[in-house]
Amino acid sequence: MDLYGKDFIVSQEWDLEELYELLDLAAKMKRDRYSSRWTRILAHQTFLMFFYNPSVRTRMSFEAAATELGGHAQFMTPSAGRFKTDKQAGETIEDAAQVMARYVCGIGIRILEDKVPHYGAGNEMLREYARWSNVPIINMADDRFHPCQGMADVMGWAEWFGEGPGRPDYGNLKGKNFLLTWGSGSLARSWCSVQEALLVASRLGMNVTVARPDGYDLDPEVHEWTRQNCGENGATFSVINDPETGYDGAHIVYSRNWVTADAYQDGMLQKQAEIERAMAHTGWTATVERMARTDNAIFTHPMPVDRGNEVTDEVASGPRSAVYDIAENRLHVQKAVMALTMGNL
Ligand code: CP
Repeated sequence: MDLYGKDFIVSQEWDLEELYELLDLAAKMKRDRYSSRWTRILAHQTFLMFFYNPSVRTRMSFEAAATELGGHAQFMTPSAGRFKTDKQAGETIEDAAQVMARYVCGIGIRILEDKVPHYGAGNEMLREYARWSNVPIINMADDRFHPCQGMADVMGWAEWFGEGPGRPDYGNLKGKNFLLTWGSGSLARSWCSVQEALLVASRLGMNVTVARPDGYDLDPEVHEWTRQNCGENGATFSVINDPETGYDGAHIVYSRNWVTADAYQDGMLQKQAEIERAMAHTGWTATVERMARTDNAIFTHPMPVDRGNEVTDEVASGPRSAVYDIAENRLHVQKAVMALTMGNL
């Protein structure tokens, strides 16, 4: 299978066989992290990390990934250039992408909801870069999707339901019950991580439940893809509006705050209004009592965790929390993505 040159913008656009190729390589890389099989894959090559928004995990893991593959990751922000936006004149994506592609072996871009005038504009921008770049565009989280996070999530779940770190069993995820529940809090969070999680969970054959207060529905296209994925796997997809019942019999619990579909007005994310709206919904927290009603579920979250709101300390730091394993997996899946799409394997 040849993935060389392929963009990674959302997992749904890669075949299942391609995702397994990526995940299998990530597990091999995790088991044998500094093997000479990997350490020259990007020798003397540079990967560009273009961040419109801040990051801890994504920046550190991509930078470490490039180093461990024998290459280098270059960090850039829009303030370093004079880029055209809807508010100011400047360099177009057509020009920027074609020039950047002459320097580097791949371009990662992060642009989240507060940097765009309407939902989906960040993803559109990535696709515009992909249109003009002849090196792969890797989505480092846009306002719709976070595919590297989704791959790290599913690898972590399969390790917990498999034989441990570096030994995932994806077959064991089929038929498991996945609860994605909206979480209390005032961070007005993006849809990208939770939407990617819905796509990968349904792709891998899990029964998916989304629990959220009324008014907090996610992207209808993502719901439709999730429904289709579940249908193809003989799995179920349901959306409920209470914070309790989704826990019954769940095998994986993912609790996360996110904004409403009405978050944009007048070409701007209305963050303060979203925070006030979210604060009206208390009691949407993953607690020990709720986790006790699951089928010994693991707790998953892409981090950073909003402790005390999305989840209690006891659950986030408890014996069934997979959050640090999943954060580590960002490194391994991104090494695999870079190796397959940009490297000399
Ligand atoms: N999960 C995630 O993308 O974390 P950062 O925002 O710290 O990169």
